Amino acid sequence: MPDNIYSSERFKPEKTRRDFLGLAAVWSAITAFVVALLGAMRLPMPSVFPESNSQIKLGSPKDFIVGSSTYFPQQRLWVYRTEEGFFALSSVCTHLGCIAERQTDNTFFCPCHGSAFSELGDVVGGPAPKGLTWVALSISPEGQLVADTLKEVDTGAIFKV
Ligand code: FES
Repeated sequence: MPDNIYSSERFKPEKTRRDFLGLAAVWSAITAFVVALLGAMRLPMPSVFPESNSQIKLGSPKDFIVGSSTYFPQQRLWVYRTEEGFFALSSVCTHLGCIAERQTDNTFFCPCHGSAFSELGDVVGGPAPKGLTWVALSISPEGQLVADTLKEVDTGAIFKV
């Protein structure tokens, strides 16, 4: 005779569908909580990491025709060749980082919150706190034009070759 009547195999309660659904609900809640927690832990990390090498070779200066402007979409960079030399303008909006699109009149407009920039990147409207960034240019030892996307130069600074 067992000590307790409920410890006997005969009186063990059967697993019901309700028990199964209850367990499934508990495990679903735990899984959802863990996934949400992992997502929250990832929030402080940036989704986009800066390029390990900010120096971008743009090609030979001779490839740029005087009076031309060339867009490098991966670097979000406009490179202008003038009679005086070169300058490079980042199309990343200084408000919250959207891409400012160049308009037919060569000004820039950011579609996210409506910032507008002049041909040379000066702010002419919208919430952007400052003009588009002028990126530093140099010549590599092999003679290629190089833009350093992490180095800013003063607006109007022409790089002479
Ligand atoms: S990100 Fe360009 S205006 Fe806000």
